[in-house]
Amino acid sequence: MEKLKLMDKDERQKRQSIIDACIEMNAVGINQGTSGNISVRHGEGILLTPTSVPYKSLKPEDIVFMRWDGSWEGPLGPSSEWRFHLDIQKARPDVNAVVHAHPLYCTTIAIMGHDIPPLHYMIVVAGGSTIRCAPYATFGTAELSANAVKALEGRLACLLQHHGLIACGRTLDKAMWLAVEVETLARQYHGCLQLGKVPLLAEDEIQNVINRIAAAGYGRKETTAAA
Ligand code: 13P
Repeated sequence: MEKLKLMDKDERQKRQSIIDACIEMNAVGINQGTSGNISVRHGEGILLTPTSVPYKSLKPEDIVFMRWDGSWEGPLGPSSEWRFHLDIQKARPDVNAVVHAHPLYCTTIAIMGHDIPPLHYMIVVAGGSTIRCAPYATFGTAELSANAVKALEGRLACLLQHHGLIACGRTLDKAMWLAVEVETLARQYHGCLQLGKVPLLAEDEIQNVINRIAAAGYGRKETTAAA
């Protein structure tokens, strides 16, 4: 409780934005129950959802502050997936927010162990021509975290085999937007697989789209200054 009194406006807003995003990810259908977790960079560490708490009952003071060494503060324990949240934000200065969820189509594709291939030009908003599927490792482990960090090299999203999705962004708003886009791509891929061999975009066309998107700032304008 002492901590809450010391919380400044910026920190309180970040904590509330995490709760709002958790509720939104369930409302828009990219997650269910308490299967997801969200973190935002803050000072010498991250703000992170606690484990196993229904999002609608979360209060700003329930959000965990975790330092880069893994030590944490808060009335509730951190998400069981704290390792990959911490490791991704340590490894990636371009990332200030990490969204993890179990969206139906991403998870279906991840169970099959498939990368999402370049079937639609919007694949490039995740950073390249594919969205990789990180090999399976047990939830909450250092092995899962290492697999996720590797699958995210040069990317802002990856699938986790037999598990779900990670989407990252410079802001939480962008990470949430990307999570919905990746679930849409996974849904398209799932649908195409029902129809036969999936035609893919060529690598040089993907590069062309990357260049056009970079020039136009296409995709999602930043609506908030920070996370
Ligand atoms: P937490 O409730 O511990 O965040 O776990 C949910 C989850 O996503 C496990 O992968």
